[in-house]
Amino acid sequence: MAPSEPHPFLRPLLLGGGALQLPDRILPGPMEGITAGSFVRVMTGAGLVSAWVTPFLRLSTDVPRTARLREKLAAFQTPLPGTDQPPPLIVQIMGKDIPLLAAAAARLAGLGVAGVDLNCACPSPAVVANGAGGARLTDPAWVRDALLALRRACPGIGISVKLRTGRRDPAEMPAILAAVRAAQPDFIMLHLRTVAEGYSTVAHGWERLARAKELLPDRILFGSGDIFTAADALALHRQAGVDGVTPARGLLRNPWLIRDLRAACAGQAAPEPDRTEKNAFLHHLCANARDAGDWRPGFILELARNLFGVRSARFRRLTEAATPDAMLAVLDSPDRHA
Ligand SMILES: Cc1cc2nc3c(=O)[nH]c(=O)nc-3n(C[C@H](O)[C@H](O)[C@H](O)COP(=O)(O)O)c2cc1C
Repeated sequence: MAPSEPHPFLRPLLLGGGALQLPDRILPGPMEGITAGSFVRVMTGAGLVSAWVTPFLRLSTDVPRTARLREKLAAFQTPLPGTDQPPPLIVQIMGKDIPLLAAAAARLAGLGVAGVDLNCACPSPAVVANGAGGARLTDPAWVRDALLALRRACPGIGISVKLRTGRRDPAEMPAILAAVRAAQPDFIMLHLRTVAEGYSTVAHGWERLARAKELLPDRILFGSGDIFTAADALALHRQAGVDGVTPARGLLRNPWLIRDLRAACAGQAAPEPDRTEKNAFLHHLCANARDAGDWRPGFILELARNLFGVRSARFRRLTEAATPDAMLAVLDSPDRHA
């Protein structure tokens, strides 16, 4: 990379033959139950993401009606700061019936989404037992055919796929990636673990991503797994040559992670959020959730534990708050750094 060239993660990514684009290659990893409601609104409103990938939309019988889809996507329509435009949105779909998936994708394309992503990664036992999500990896030809059908159903938007490195064994990866490559999706998101590995610790996981990039020399590959800091993401790029990253759980430890990574890619030091900024973020989240009626106390407590520490007085007092207003009162109270 020449010194004047932007870091590869900061390059725009063209979708759907160039009609649409993502501003860069740093996407928040989708998280069912987390990438929703107040978290999406607050992160977008603070400019902490430049695009979103939704968690999976499970399709088993019918294509959801347009009104229902609009309702599900409403939080993602929050405008970015200083604009009246929401960030580009990739909607992830999951199922095993290709015509149903294609019909849903066509309806989503009509709603103005930037892309549709096919989930072939979810390890939930109920999903896998039903033959969807990660179970699809046992049939690479199905994955190829599904991607081709999605492309035919909506030629003007991005088509992508979320994978793991195998159903049971990373030795399955070359056959999976060969099938995916044949369908030429706009990009591929690859979680380094197999479906069977769930979220367990994996030795040398990034080596699997390096091998994947070798197998996909002409495709855009986003690496996923164990990216908790900007330095992790840069190291993964150096080690595996991935074209982009999708940090997920790291956003719960540091909601500023994508901003930090963008700065690091531009050679700048990111400002370390102080306790006042951390408090303001949680306050904003709590107030937003209260006003929208989507208060998720467990999720807010998880963030508070990560931001203030499990032993902090502030976190302990938040665990005792039974309502959004009680949490807001704790966050409004003086911080004695206890
Ligand atoms: C609670 C939770 C929910 C998730 N939901 C989804 C999902 O809906 N779709 C998806 O593709 N990945 C999902 N993932 C996987 C993440 O996007 C990501 O691939 C994985 O957590 C590894 O990245 P990380 O180590 O940065 O968290 C989920 C992960 C978590 C922890």
